[in-house]
Amino acid sequence: MKHLLSLEQLTAGEMEEILSLAATLKKERGTKAAAQHQPLAGQTWAMIFTKASTRTRVSFEVGVRELGGNVFFLSPADSQLGRGEPIKDTARVFGRIAHGAIIRTFAQQDVVDFAHYSGLPTINALTDDEHPCQVLADLQTMQEKLGGWAGRKVVFMGDGDNNMSRSWMWAAERLGFQLVICAPKKYQPSVSYLAGFKSGVVSCETDPLKAAAGADVLYTDVFVSMGQEAEGARRLEDLKAYQINAELVGAATPGVIVMHCLPAYRGKEITEEVLEAHAETIFQEAENRLHAQKAVMSLLARP
Ligand code: CP
Ligand code: NVA
Repeated sequence: MKHLLSLEQLTAGEMEEILSLAATLKKERGTKAAAQHQPLAGQTWAMIFTKASTRTRVSFEVGVRELGGNVFFLSPADSQLGRGEPIKDTARVFGRIAHGAIIRTFAQQDVVDFAHYSGLPTINALTDDEHPCQVLADLQTMQEKLGGWAGRKVVFMGDGDNNMSRSWMWAAERLGFQLVICAPKKYQPSVSYLAGFKSGVVSCETDPLKAAAGADVLYTDVFVSMGQEAEGARRLEDLKAYQINAELVGAATPGVIVMHCLPAYRGKEITEEVLEAHAETIFQEAENRLHAQKAVMSLLARP
């Protein structure tokens, strides 16, 4: 593994290796063993974010430092990227100076180009296409809460055609659990995208109560992703029937876990009541960003 650009590019074995190391790093955090695990010693990693972030920024900044490295953060306002310098030129500069890069932006192609032109280990910290780090942390949480994913049914509610749903689809495809995308037709992945998946692993459903039946995990994300603000009102209207609320939770398997990548908009994709009842799981996902990403960086820094 040279980069983490998408979950599509990982094998099941690579996902399992990341998750197993993430579990070890979580257990060992704060111990002598952790203090000796310094794979980024002597390195400086760059974080280039053109979209807002709380969890991703904090977890990577802390994670790089815990692995012995230095890190610096750049937004478009602070760099020539904001004045239109091409990503391939920026990448070639960073490639000569930094040791790794963590990028949050709009186009997936920019992350791919950065990795290519910089030659640095490059991590996708969210693009319009995928959010692989979040789903790795979610899988770690599923492992902790449910003992794994074998035989489990995960239902992704709401905007079924966004970065989160796509990374979940690749996780299901590689690891072999059942994923139901529950969304109105217009918000489901395209037929041509779905054609790339094994039959029986990923399916779509328009009826929330039908989808929730037998669910072990109910997952949701914002209805309006970053960059979609102009169509916000229409999306909220189109997706309002796909909210995770008490009725939906009641239709799922008893003991269902409710997950959310955060930030959450109470009263939109999830009710206050359900979010607070499942806050332990939801904030565990946020914490696991740190552990899963430390595992990814440790593996990318391997000689
Ligand atoms: N879930 C997530 O990526 O959160 P941030 O946008 O706050 O980084
Ligand atoms: N789909 C959301 C995820 C936020 C972590 C977005 O892109 O805004």
